[in-house]
Amino acid sequence: MQSAASCSATPRPIPLFAPVTSATFCCSPSNSSCAGHNAGITGSGQVDPADARDQIPSTVDLDMVRAVFETNVFGVIAVTNAVLPLLRRSPAPRIVNVSSHAASLTLTSDPDGPFAALLPSAAYSPSKTALCALTVQYANELRKDGVLVNAVAPGFVDTDSNNHTGFLTVAQGAAVVVRLATLGPDGPTAGFFAEDGPLPW
Ligand SMILES: NC(=O)c1ccc[n+]([C@@H]2O[C@H](COP(=O)([O-])OP(=O)(O)OC[C@H]3O[C@@H](n4cnc5c(N)ncnc54)[C@H](OP(=O)(O)O)[C@@H]3O)[C@@H](O)[C@H]2O)c1
Repeated sequence: MQSAASCSATPRPIPLFAPVTSATFCCSPSNSSCAGHNAGITGSGQVDPADARDQIPSTVDLDMVRAVFETNVFGVIAVTNAVLPLLRRSPAPRIVNVSSHAASLTLTSDPDGPFAALLPSAAYSPSKTALCALTVQYANELRKDGVLVNAVAPGFVDTDSNNHTGFLTVAQGAAVVVRLATLGPDGPTAGFFAEDGPLPW
């Protein structure tokens, strides 16, 4: 892994491997360093979310819920704490946790909103809600150290995880991640963002 002190002028994502999850450690032209927690699983495998019936709360397999939380929540704690010493050496440290619109309690509890039409999920959605909660706790701890910590929702992106049913390209989904990874010193922390602006928790 490249040290924060040796960041080059060209952004260069560097995969960091850990037992439970992965992060992309990135050096930007502004010499900021960012831990972007992108690794995640749905628990349902490579499937259209509309077919993820194994997430339905009343019949869900608890071992699947545990596995999803292991990667999507506990893994982020493990990797964050592993990279923090290096991040702290950067003049502009940033942490971006890749969450989901499905994490938003406000959006998903609106019976008239688009998310009420999704299959209920006891694994993926709650794990991403927990990731948002974790984002706020890390942000509060690290605010005094200048580490900006935010959660993002990339939107419905065409990837393996949804069996390529997403309608956004990977580049479109990544835009908000890059934006939050390269925030200036007055940027937000403890926030939740999509590409078109802040999201409600
Ligand atoms: N696609 C969407 O519409 C969408 C929407 C909202 C949020 N997200 C979030 O965006 C992130 C990326 O998802 P994606 O759609 O790109 O899914 P994906 O195509 O399935 O990619 C997930 C990535 O996470 C890695 N990963 C999973 N478990 C891991 C583990 N235990 N250790 C290390 N790496 C692990 C996978 O590596 P391997 O391939 O080696 O297993 C893969 O590179 C996830 O956090 C997901 O929840 C996606």
